[in-house]
Amino acid sequence: MLILGIETSCDETSLAILRDNHILASETFSQGDIHAVFGGVVPEVASRNHLAKIVPLFSKIIDASGISPDKLDLIAVTNAPGLIGALFVGVSFAKGLAFALKKPLVPVHHLAGHILSAELSNQGLIPPYAAIVASGGHTHIYDVCSEPLCFKLWGRTIDDAAGEAFDKVAKMLGGTYPGGPFVESLALTGSPSSIKFPVALKKSENFSFSGLKTSVMNKINEGIFSYADIAASFQYTVAITMTDKILRAAKELNRKTIVVSGGVSCNKAIRAVFTEETAKEGIDVYFPAPALSTDNGAMIAYTAWRIFKDADMSNYMDLTFSAGDTRHEIDA
Ligand code: KG4
Ligand code: ZN
Repeated sequence: MLILGIETSCDETSLAILRDNHILASETFSQGDIHAVFGGVVPEVASRNHLAKIVPLFSKIIDASGISPDKLDLIAVTNAPGLIGALFVGVSFAKGLAFALKKPLVPVHHLAGHILSAELSNQGLIPPYAAIVASGGHTHIYDVCSEPLCFKLWGRTIDDAAGEAFDKVAKMLGGTYPGGPFVESLALTGSPSSIKFPVALKKSENFSFSGLKTSVMNKINEGIFSYADIAASFQYTVAITMTDKILRAAKELNRKTIVVSGGVSCNKAIRAVFTEETAKEGIDVYFPAPALSTDNGAMIAYTAWRIFKDADMSNYMDLTFSAGDTRHEIDA
């Protein structure tokens, strides 16, 4: 089966063509630099850039894959959650294409895409597992059961998402959007144990990162620690907070495997903490390839393939009602 996946929910315009669960071609235009001057994603600017890029990217992916459009079997597109104008561009393009080519159109939930991106990168990984999606808009833990496309929400952030906290802390430390890569490289020369930042909601299933942000600001104002030490300690606190919580979820849900996905899962230091802590508990941990951790069309195409393959969509539909989007659209 040949599937075109289209992702435009935030600031990446990304298209991919898969043959079943194999990527034939993938093209992404990242708007990070465009939004950097504003310090965060400006929804209207994102929509306009998706509009400018989507048709050229489609031509590019057709050329790169060598697949002519009439050979496609499915058109898959992210339909929620995300910035409404940005989603509109992808969905409108996908609808037009599906209508013109007379092909089925499959709406894909963005978080299902992020979770299943780990399967795309690790052939052989199959549910059940506990999954954490840590991105700019979400920090959500799901129980992914062995029934087809079954995602049950276990815990979530009640304020900032982990990626959002990285973006805001980066700004405090003099960096720009997106903040994750900036904090990660600043942290390379710092010590993760130099500052013991507080961990909120330790006993709850949920996360809260807003107090951590305030603590970072207080440490900056104290002027005692270097920015590198602050970055490394902040990063370690986010990592250990997420690791502790997903390990608790795995224990409660009786899962022996964990998946860590979303933009924050690109972070090498965070991956190392997950790997070390899960090994201590005898739990297997899987990540998507770094290029599939941030927003991409391949995870959307793969999810559509799973939907079509599994046919029963009743479990999948539950996800739409359980996932909230915590993104604060403009970070003024
Ligand atoms: O999954 P993603 O591409 O888009 C959303 O669905 O939000 O995630 C973007 C988020 C941003 O907040 C960005 O700062 C964060 O992922 N991120 C990182 C790293 N690379 C991207 N966070 C920590 N370390 C990184 N290396
Ligand atoms: Zn995402």
